[in-house]
Amino acid sequence: MAPSPAGGRKPLMSGNWKMHHNHFEAIQTVQKLSYRLTTADYDAVDVSVHPPFTDLRSVQTVLEGDDVPVALGAQHCHWEDKGAFTGEISPPMLAKLNVTYVIAGHSERRDLFGEDDEMVNRKVRAILAAGMTPIMCVGEHLEEREAGTTDERVSAQVRAGLADVSAGQVGALVIAYEPIWAIGSGRTATPDDAQAVCGVIRGVVSEVAGQEAAETVRIQYGGSVKPTNTAELMAQPDIDGALVGGGSLDPDDFSRIVQYREA
Ligand code: 13P
Repeated sequence: MAPSPAGGRKPLMSGNWKMHHNHFEAIQTVQKLSYRLTTADYDAVDVSVHPPFTDLRSVQTVLEGDDVPVALGAQHCHWEDKGAFTGEISPPMLAKLNVTYVIAGHSERRDLFGEDDEMVNRKVRAILAAGMTPIMCVGEHLEEREAGTTDERVSAQVRAGLADVSAGQVGALVIAYEPIWAIGSGRTATPDDAQAVCGVIRGVVSEVAGQEAAETVRIQYGGSVKPTNTAELMAQPDIDGALVGGGSLDPDDFSRIVQYREA
């Protein structure tokens, strides 16, 4: 494993495609991505793609068939294993497709579909129980930032999301700091502002799960990450990766983001 700038934590660069790309487009996108990424890239960073549910099987087949070391990710799941939950997908169903990472509590799920901290915590525990790694999202609204309550809001989300998760499990998971005002807006938190909040998150992890978990937990920044701003964000000591929306849809852009070391 290549040395990483942040205390041995291998960076994780994740593409969250949201509700974009049907399964044909998804196949083309991962194939093109795989042509652009090199062994040196995979040595330096972990890479995941998070297509819509309908694409997962197709993308899994491409990644496994062509031995592409990009991890398969999902965007969402329910917390129950099975049952009368029309339209939902369970963690064991995702694990069966060799999904590695599952996003939990994305701000779009929280704001548009009513997910609260308790539901996010249930999902985090269910994802872990199914043997996968949660990417637990936290972040403040613009009004909270302007009111100076960002740290309070984000700390509360981290504490609630990690309730009843063992220290060992916390140390292995991923937390994504996504300031909601920076998502899809073209506005990025400055590297200093993003670092400040990611530092607060690591401090909360240390309080709830101990120093060792705080040293190993990976914290991503998300919100208008582009090829041109990735390197300066990744240079921050508490930023261990990026959760990328719009910038991950095009394989040229996303490969340049993954290759930020060369910028
Ligand atoms: P954008 O990169 O499009 O701002 O989206 C960020 C995000 O929400 C990733 O999960």
